[in-house]
Amino acid sequence: MDITIEKVPGTELKTKPDGNSLGFGAIFTDHMFVMEYDKDQGWHHARVTKYSNFSFDPAAMVLHYGQAIFEGLKAYRGHDNQIYLFRPKDNLERMNLSATRMCMPTLNIDDVYEGLQALLKTEQDWVPAVEGASLYIRPTMIATEAGLGVRPANRYLFYIILSPVGAYYPEGFNPVKIFVTDKYVRAVPGGVGNAKTAGNYAASIMAALEAQKQGFTQVLWLDAVHRKYIEEVGTMNIFFVIGDEVITPPLSGSILPGITRDSVIKLMRDWGCAVSERPISIDEVFEASSKGMLNEVFGTGTAAVISPVGSLFYKEQTCSVNNGKTGKLARRLFEELQNMQYGRNPAPYGWISHL
Ligand code: COI
Repeated sequence: MDITIEKVPGTELKTKPDGNSLGFGAIFTDHMFVMEYDKDQGWHHARVTKYSNFSFDPAAMVLHYGQAIFEGLKAYRGHDNQIYLFRPKDNLERMNLSATRMCMPTLNIDDVYEGLQALLKTEQDWVPAVEGASLYIRPTMIATEAGLGVRPANRYLFYIILSPVGAYYPEGFNPVKIFVTDKYVRAVPGGVGNAKTAGNYAASIMAALEAQKQGFTQVLWLDAVHRKYIEEVGTMNIFFVIGDEVITPPLSGSILPGITRDSVIKLMRDWGCAVSERPISIDEVFEASSKGMLNEVFGTGTAAVISPVGSLFYKEQTCSVNNGKTGKLARRLFEELQNMQYGRNPAPYGWISHL
């Protein structure tokens, strides 16, 4: 693919932040990757260009009917100063699944990967040299055609922006407090819960705000039909360790097929753990806790990495997990993933790519 590189003059480059005090997603680099789509030309005009505002028609279809999808992955700087990516093409494959579900054009994975590499080469000085910090990569696609008829748009913009980040949750790798909601639902069977589309996140905000007001970090969603089976947490998939069994909800169509979820399932199975992808109800979790069998709960996600859960609050009852402390398995998974992502240990399954 032809990619034009339009570099920002050195005198106009932004000051890079201190890698030790990064939050999540508030700072953006100097450049972005952009390309456009229309029905006749397909994807075209690929470029690495200055990070700057877009200009849209007020009738751009994304603003009205929500054809917007995105991905999240990270670039890591190893102690050897090399830049590593974790399963980048898997994120792009998942973006194509989201595109198909939202009636948006799919991407040529190799072309987009080439665009991502070109962007990262331009911005490599932005990858923080601090353990736990990384350069978050946000590929995004939106419908830009102006029109008020409800149908798939004929014009789209695809872009990749970069943001140096630290931990997603203020707690870092410390256990979070989770609110289990049976008042709101995130997704319904047959809906778009398994697509990484903007509307799913918009729909989650009210429940998250209510939970935060009561001192909780995140919401755990139950299934929309029975309001009983566990689905996922706002920004991550979830795992329970009951006795010796590790349980995570199956990819039923209403939860996001997490890349970190898939990675930890493979790692744990390689370690000989019994991992079940099966429906698990909130009652089963509370019952296991009351019998002293709920050993660990943790979430997985690109932004969150591995996030131990210290307690769950449901119907006015709290179940404490492992006395509110990080469990052994969560710690082992966190360390194993970080060791691969920062290039200290080799990764299985070809998971790591170099810039
Ligand atoms: C990610 O983990 O990359 C996500 O997309 C979660 C995000 C909404 C913060």
